[in-house]
Amino acid sequence: MDPANIDDLIGGGAEETCRMSAEGVRETWSTRIGFILAAVGSAVGLGNIWRFPFQVGQEGGAAFMIMYLAFVVLIGFPAMLVEFVVGRKTGLNTVGAIREFAGGAWKYLGGLFVFIGFVILSYYSVVGGWVMRYIVGSATGGYVGPPAADGTPQAAQYFGKIAVGWDALFFHALFMLVVVAIVALGVQRGIELGVKIMVPAIIAIFGVLAVYAFTLSGAAEAYSYYLSPDLGYLLENWQSIVPAAAGQGFFTLSLGMGVMITYASYLSEDENLAIDGGSIVVFNTGISILTGLIVFPILFSADVDPGDPGAGAIFVSVAEALGGIPLGELVGVLFFGTVAIAALSSAISLIEVVVSYAIDEFGVDRLTATAIVGAAIFVLGAPVTYDTVMVDLYDILAAKILLLTGGILLIVLVAWLSADEALEELEKGVGRLGSNGIVWLWVVRVPVLIVLVVSLALGVIEYADFLTGDFAEFLGNL
Ligand code: PHE
Repeated sequence: MDPANIDDLIGGGAEETCRMSAEGVRETWSTRIGFILAAVGSAVGLGNIWRFPFQVGQEGGAAFMIMYLAFVVLIGFPAMLVEFVVGRKTGLNTVGAIREFAGGAWKYLGGLFVFIGFVILSYYSVVGGWVMRYIVGSATGGYVGPPAADGTPQAAQYFGKIAVGWDALFFHALFMLVVVAIVALGVQRGIELGVKIMVPAIIAIFGVLAVYAFTLSGAAEAYSYYLSPDLGYLLENWQSIVPAAAGQGFFTLSLGMGVMITYASYLSEDENLAIDGGSIVVFNTGISILTGLIVFPILFSADVDPGDPGAGAIFVSVAEALGGIPLGELVGVLFFGTVAIAALSSAISLIEVVVSYAIDEFGVDRLTATAIVGAAIFVLGAPVTYDTVMVDLYDILAAKILLLTGGILLIVLVAWLSADEALEELEKGVGRLGSNGIVWLWVVRVPVLIVLVVSLALGVIEYADFLTGDFAEFLGNL
């Protein structure tokens, strides 16, 4: 990452000014940095730090990486512009924007987005709870100790204990309470400040841990696993790697459920959407790559198969590392504290989609809407604290099916049915796009759409396998 860019990202103010628009006065970001900051706050979260390493681990390392990077650049970036166009054109929140942008049955797409937000936040909050649990665990040194008799590292045993049960339920509740409090009190400003602190903090703390990981005995092996792709493996396993890369690409960039519509609705017309989108993609991807540079050397050095810890990859590996460095407790509190801020700023963007819908649709006030929505999400997430197989039940559905469906429908609506408006909107702030605009349109219309449809189909097959396999077995053992 270019240091000048980091400076840009954290140095700017996020104050907003007002402009008059057709609907009356609407706030816009006075500086592009305010918008980028908020969008980065939504994008950077558990998707980068928790979900990314375990996807890499389960899908065979660098073969997944290469597919994932291709997805982010060739599919994620153009798909993000699709959401930006709708948001800035309508100047409305997700559900309102869809309703205004398209009539007829398309209004149900807004309903789908709300449903997706509901599902994702329900288990996102459980994982966010684990993070909060680890802040406490770091302070008390709970996960440091000798391995078990069978060689399982202490960090892995600890994760097994706190990931399910009352502990997990309690911290899930705590995470949701904090989200609800922030949104209900309208202290998003506080979160903007948090994001400003989070960005340099992540780079600094993750940088330290990555350097530490570099010194470990398993580092060389880990780098080759993580960074040098085995094309044979890719060809053999593309049916599971493709939907995983697509799902991760959408999840990490907050695409497919209209979050980026809301943020772009605050943008003014002289903003260049492509440059903003590009900065968000680059920044977000950088954080994921950095996370992998920490996780894999540590797992290899501790002799843990990188696919083994599954959803626990980040917790097990970082906890293991903290046991080995000076001031581990302090670094642990800072690390998990930073991750908690990243998770909260993403969770807020998720709940906001549901809350703004509830306010519009049922005419309730913000406080009531937030409290009811928060309680409902807590209840939906509670079963996830029963067994980690439940994480897969929610997560495969959300990332590999729901987000991809949302993305596909939005692309059909924008790039096929409203192409002229879309192009016109994209041109604002750039000047004439000339053939670039047409290229974007056709890239989105054909290859992006085909790849997403194939990924979705593979995702559905995988989910059916999971439901009749691991999940059926879990139910059978209840
Ligand atoms: N992008 C967020 C993350 O990586 C999660 C998210 C997904 C947020 C979809 C909003 C919408 O943690």
